[in-house]
Amino acid sequence: MGNSFLVTTAIPDPGFQLLADAGRVTVLPEPPDYETLAALCASGDFDVVLTQLRDVIDAPLLAGARLRGVSNFAVGYNNIDVDAATRAGIMVGNTPGVLTDATADIAMLLILGTARRVVEGDQLVRSGRFHGWEPELLLGRDVSGAVLGLAGFGRIARATARRALGFGMEVLFSPRPPSDRPVSDEELGEFVGRVRQVPWEELVERSDFLSLHVPLSDQTRHLVDADVLHRMKPDAILINTARGPVVHEDALVEALQNNVIAAAGLDVFEDEPRLAPGLNELHNTVLLPHVGSATVRVRSEMARLSALNAVAMAEGRAPLHPVSSYVKA
Ligand code: GLV
Repeated sequence: MGNSFLVTTAIPDPGFQLLADAGRVTVLPEPPDYETLAALCASGDFDVVLTQLRDVIDAPLLAGARLRGVSNFAVGYNNIDVDAATRAGIMVGNTPGVLTDATADIAMLLILGTARRVVEGDQLVRSGRFHGWEPELLLGRDVSGAVLGLAGFGRIARATARRALGFGMEVLFSPRPPSDRPVSDEELGEFVGRVRQVPWEELVERSDFLSLHVPLSDQTRHLVDADVLHRMKPDAILINTARGPVVHEDALVEALQNNVIAAAGLDVFEDEPRLAPGLNELHNTVLLPHVGSATVRVRSEMARLSALNAVAMAEGRAPLHPVSSYVKA
């Protein structure tokens, strides 16, 4: 019962209970600013900190931290400098797997929602301007037969491919844009003969829907910039359920304003919760508040995994889902 956990933002059950059963839990009343979090991590009062994506765990914080582990309540961990954590002997855990299908659902929802202009339709009905069926009211785009380009081919991209194939889309992918690596048939598994790998440049130029499924890294920051947007088809639609900074958001706004591409469906933003100027005035967007994993079941599974990771690290064991290369001797 000597374990001590710092939880930066309250998490759903069974997460809290698992932590409470294993030690002392401090849940902060509001999300901490960087200095507060750094001071708490350096205090020596906690074995493990359970963090959210907004908590920046960078090299200076880690250098001063007296922790055994950082448990991130997310599959992505771009908020944590994993190399610096490894250097400091601090383990890092995340919550993969449980949110794959829910996030792919949101990618598909954004594909359908942008293609069929769901926000414009909803606003029209609510505003009282719907005067009955009209042959040319809010005409959208066909999803079946359209080319879906997947940037990345990890768990969530594959789950999106599965859905898109069910909708009759043609699915192309580029596994690690902007560079490439060959994907073997063995790795393709169920997708052999059903999806096709193409170079990133071709993916950009051929996609009717370009959907982003890459982690945020130095290689993928601003992967979609003004140049890429100009190489997309003028009637193409960009979908982002990955990380906001993968897209240069100012360039996207400009592209949407000038019909360089047709529309965008976004669940993530470059500087969340702030939006790039002009984005919220565009009619050709569907904007969601980073809810890819937001179902009751998934968030409770994430809470369970992040708590189990935290307990393992507090007890000096590797987390169930380690993201650092640190392996306890
Ligand atoms: C959410 O964005 C996550 O990485 O889990």
